[in-house]
Amino acid sequence: MGSNDPIAVTGLNHWFGTGEARKQAVFDVNLTVARGSLTVLVGPSGSGKTTVLTLLGCLREVQDGSVHLLGHELHGAHPTLLTSLRRRLGFIFQAHNLHESLTAQQNVIMGLDVHGRLSAGQAEAAADHVLDLVGLGDRLAYLPANLSGGQKQRVAVARALVGNPDVIFADEPTAALDRESGANVVAMIKRLGHERGTTTVMVTHDNRILDQADRVITLEDGRIVDDTL
Ligand SMILES: Nc1ncnc2c1ncn2[C@@H]1O[C@H](COP(=O)(O)OP(=O)(O)OP(=O)(O)O)[C@@H](O)[C@H]1O
Ligand SMILES: [Mg+2]
Repeated sequence: MGSNDPIAVTGLNHWFGTGEARKQAVFDVNLTVARGSLTVLVGPSGSGKTTVLTLLGCLREVQDGSVHLLGHELHGAHPTLLTSLRRRLGFIFQAHNLHESLTAQQNVIMGLDVHGRLSAGQAEAAADHVLDLVGLGDRLAYLPANLSGGQKQRVAVARALVGNPDVIFADEPTAALDRESGANVVAMIKRLGHERGTTTVMVTHDNRILDQADRVITLEDGRIVDDTL
């Protein structure tokens, strides 16, 4: 593995449950992910895609094996380190978790709060810019309740991207999007990869994205069974 690789995983195993109910969900996963690349995880329901994504994204404690993220070992890492690493990540998950009492613009600014020290005006400008990119430039002041499912998903995408994360973790980010918005999101991720070296690991079965992926990893029963690198 190159020391520049943002993600390097060796011998990763993961179990859920305790006692009799303890069940292994991830088996000996090994992979390195190149900077600026778009890696897609595919596989049947229950094959471990979300589990792997959340382990790599510091959202789940690493139990066994090694996960190197942005130069740091996650196994046994101190919570302070995990918190500071999470600030360098962007997450786009199925449940978009928008704050219902905040407008689209304010929700996106929430993605900035942990990232930096911008003035209110700068934060608004940054939020407006990414909302414009996802086609919501005319919905800045809308509350989530007044947005469609796909529009809410686009706000979540904008929130994940606004802080210029080093790594984006996404779980079916285009599932609720129409054709054009889905294509815009992928184009944006590809451009961030080229221009800023942003690395993306994404679970998706969307063919439009699979066509654009640098690499497609297939999981089955918690194991990597195919890797097109
Ligand atoms: N919190 C949990 N507690 C217990 N078992 C879990 C938990 N989360 C996932 N699992 C189990 O781990 C396995 C992998 O689940 P995971 O959510 O990673 O699958 P997935 O590939 O993301 O599936 P889907 O495509 O349906 O989202 C499944 O057998 C699932 O039942
Ligand atoms: Mg899943």
